[in-house]
Amino acid sequence: MCGIVGYIGDGDTVTILLESLRRLEYRGYDSAGMAIIDDEGNARIFKIEGEISELESIIPGISSRVGIGHTRWATHGRPTTENAHPHCSGNICVVHNGIIENYQELKDELISEGFVFISDTDTEVLAHLINKYDTGDLRLAVSTALGHVRGSYAIGVLSNEHPDELIAARKDSPLIIGLGKDENFIASDIPAVLKYTNRILYIDNLELISVKQDSVRVFDMEGNPVEKKEHIIEWDLEAAEKAGYPHFMLKEIHEQTRSIHETMTGRLHELEGDVNFEELGLNRNEIRQFQRIEIIACGTSYNAGLLGKYLFEWLAGIHTDVDTGSEFRYSSPVLDPSTLVIAISQSGETADTLAAVHEATSYGCRTLAITNVVGSTIFRDASHTIYTRAGPEIGVAATKSFTSQLVVLYLLAIHFARARSRMDADRARMLLSELRKIPGHVSRILEDAGTIQECASMFVKAENYFFIGRNINYPVALEGALKLKEISYIHAEGYAAGELKHGPLALISKDVPVVAIAPHGHTYDKILSNIKEVTARDASVIAIADCDDCEIRKFADIVIPIPKTDEVLTPLLSSVVVQLLAYYTALELDCSIDKPRNLAKSVTVE
Ligand code: G6P
Repeated sequence: MCGIVGYIGDGDTVTILLESLRRLEYRGYDSAGMAIIDDEGNARIFKIEGEISELESIIPGISSRVGIGHTRWATHGRPTTENAHPHCSGNICVVHNGIIENYQELKDELISEGFVFISDTDTEVLAHLINKYDTGDLRLAVSTALGHVRGSYAIGVLSNEHPDELIAARKDSPLIIGLGKDENFIASDIPAVLKYTNRILYIDNLELISVKQDSVRVFDMEGNPVEKKEHIIEWDLEAAEKAGYPHFMLKEIHEQTRSIHETMTGRLHELEGDVNFEELGLNRNEIRQFQRIEIIACGTSYNAGLLGKYLFEWLAGIHTDVDTGSEFRYSSPVLDPSTLVIAISQSGETADTLAAVHEATSYGCRTLAITNVVGSTIFRDASHTIYTRAGPEIGVAATKSFTSQLVVLYLLAIHFARARSRMDADRARMLLSELRKIPGHVSRILEDAGTIQECASMFVKAENYFFIGRNINYPVALEGALKLKEISYIHAEGYAAGELKHGPLALISKDVPVVAIAPHGHTYDKILSNIKEVTARDASVIAIADCDDCEIRKFADIVIPIPKTDEVLTPLLSSVVVQLLAYYTALELDCSIDKPRNLAKSVTVE
């Protein structure tokens, strides 16, 4: 996730672009850059590894009437000055948010034609492609170039041959146009322009825009004009940064339709029935040689890791253990180089997880980090890294970073299963095609959130909650309980449902709601029995179940339906339900949702 901006008009371009970029820092802030055309017609480019304030400090006072800017959240290539946007080729400068899936093949082709690359980014191919097709009509050059591209993009394009025009385009990444008086703006999101205008055009997929000081014209990719409706934004700036949501947590829960898609982008190879992890750096032989996997993580990432254990064992047939970072570092681990150690950390900075990585390295193990932050400490310390690409998460309670971790674990388990000949191509294809449908399923859950909100309000007085699940649903039970206690301060326990009878049943009474994660699958009958155990003790049961499950309605007080998918993928959907349940409970209780008491987003001390 990155932020792009563009400005054309009589205002102070540099100041406006900097101010707009600051409003998009929530989209990423590891490096930043700007290209402007000065009054002499020269393109001036400024880039920095660091935040917008540092970018500001390197830009001298320049008078300019047009420019583009970028704040980066690295996906391809580390956060360095070379990799910061804009990327330029000849007269062309480009800022980009999204992922060019076929960038490697385009890059090879462009190199063979003599184009010289100076960054590791996917975006640089766009600059060279537009330059290649530029015969004087900038809009045509951009649409021709985009015709060769697979992936997602919101771009802003500037050329010092055309100082009176900015070109923007969109596919699958957000883009808006701000309409001013004798000035116009492009941006990834409304807060970037709200200080200057509240008149907005929402750009749809495969639209291309020519932005001039006194006109904005929108076209489809064939060059036909498109009529757009102007929207007036009534929010203030603070509301706009949350895109109109009352809390970052709710915004981030809703962003999961997008973030899950981003995590999969370019990685699903349905044709071959396999997963492409370019950055993994482990070949099939190496994958086959691992005897065991040890997963280490803390908090929500630990719960993701626990699901990973079930997946690696079930799908890939490889023995897997999971431990928390804080326990692992003081245990006496039995490790040798045949163990792959996977460390999961959203921030990549959690002290206990980092210590565990160092410990594992000292045993000669390969370490694989799964993290959301490019260039974080774990990236430097681990021997291999996969990025989750969920985009920055502001709410302390992890939501979209969790589901993106799950997606990476699904993809890894499928990849390992294929490499170890434990899964045939047909099964892999089926799972990958079901994975593609997950963002759509998540949308449906979000649309039907009313039932979840009602349920939260019914049990808001409860002092204790139980979340139960079996097998792959057990990690979701743990995560549901963690989310609820974290933000609503209600005591909640996540339990492996079969263990209830060994103690917790003593606590079950009519005042204790029990959330049962119960989609269809090989443990369905078992969880039904567990539900009966607790209803016999007068507990109220909230079941998260398949939408076509009529049976469960006989036993549960409330059923929250989730769309049908393959059994193995259901945790991706039930996770969204437990997040919403926690959110709406905390909302009823008027808790500090984005910043719960005593907690921090990233725990960099022991
Ligand atoms: C803190 C956060 C949790 C997070 C945990 C691990 O406790 O509040 O939301 O799950 O750290 O963080 P990591 O960045 O390593 O995933």
